[in-house]
Amino acid sequence: MINVYQPTLGKEELMALEKVFESNWLGKGKRVAEFEEKYAEHIRSSKDLVLTTNCCSEGLFSSMHLLDIQPGDEVILPTISFIGAGNAVCACGAKMVLCDVDPHTLNARAEDIEKVITPKTKALLLLHYGGIPCEMDEIMALCKKYNIKLIEDAAAGVCSFYKGKAVGTFGEMGMWSFDAMKILVCGDGAMLHFNTPELRRKADRWLYFGLETKSGYENSVAQKWWEFDISSFGHRAIMNDITAAMALEQLKKLPMYMEKRAFVHNFYNEHLKQFSWIELPPVLPDYVETSYYFYHIQVNNGKRDQFAKYLREHGVYTTYRYYPLHRVPGYGVTGNFPNADYAADNTLNLPMHQSLSQEDLNLIICVIKEFDQKFC
Ligand SMILES: Cc1ncc(COP(=O)(O)O)c(C=O)c1O
Repeated sequence: MINVYQPTLGKEELMALEKVFESNWLGKGKRVAEFEEKYAEHIRSSKDLVLTTNCCSEGLFSSMHLLDIQPGDEVILPTISFIGAGNAVCACGAKMVLCDVDPHTLNARAEDIEKVITPKTKALLLLHYGGIPCEMDEIMALCKKYNIKLIEDAAAGVCSFYKGKAVGTFGEMGMWSFDAMKILVCGDGAMLHFNTPELRRKADRWLYFGLETKSGYENSVAQKWWEFDISSFGHRAIMNDITAAMALEQLKKLPMYMEKRAFVHNFYNEHLKQFSWIELPPVLPDYVETSYYFYHIQVNNGKRDQFAKYLREHGVYTTYRYYPLHRVPGYGVTGNFPNADYAADNTLNLPMHQSLSQEDLNLIICVIKEFDQKFC
């Protein structure tokens, strides 16, 4: 079966792990610090604004506390969002307010967001779908106009920039995921970005029990270094040197990964344009850089599900991301989201990862041709 997503790991990561074993330090240490520094450079920011954590979902949940979202506050999110975003909002007692999206990029636009703003709107939790940057000029203007805090879910946007600025660095807080199915992978891990060093410091404490002082060698308590105080009832959600060692190697490989992903994207575009029932992913404006995390098409003849099943039966695994939150009964949010409904019923994410071989790609096109001849 050709996987829809897949990590790419090599001997470089193994060798880096070996060195961690030899160092006898597996916890949060030098490698985590180095990864934070290098990642900050990669996103053209600074190291006093970034902080690692154990997964991006933790970042979503923690954003509610860090930005002081209170029960009863309204938080807007696109209905096409990752489930962890919905859970984060609901778990803190805030009201989840959904907005519609662009039917083709699947990103929320300023006009979609503005329709659902009320005096109780405290924050916007924005998804850059598959790393495609949202239209940030308009969205930033909206946030300023209505005094709304911005949290960016840039989980898949590890190489995504809008007018030269990394997605994830526009809002009060942003985040990227390095879980097993992302582009830069380390098993589990994430990077958070903050708009001020103060917020970063607050997050640093929150993600380690709210401790005011660190235990062990670093503790400033000269005599009894086992004493401590806390500033909040924080979590324990940190990265460690094992995952950071892998992440450092992966970071070096990003340019190579982007080249391959762009190649796959263009290959699909070239070979799928012959099928009138397939709508190719939208062409993006030249002032954005995407991460090519998804290759999403739209099947305009009502046969998306049949097509996905046919591909799966012939060795090609596909999926649809993300199931709209207004269709999740557990959230109890209803409303009219025609574009999201169109997207959810017709979009399909084809295999996209840097380990796809030419043989894989040829097979995928071959199976699609067969489907076309039999059913379209
Ligand atoms: C858009 C989006 N946000 C957040 C996450 C959560 O990332 P993690 O697995 O690191 O918790 C995911 C994971 O798939 C995601 O796709």
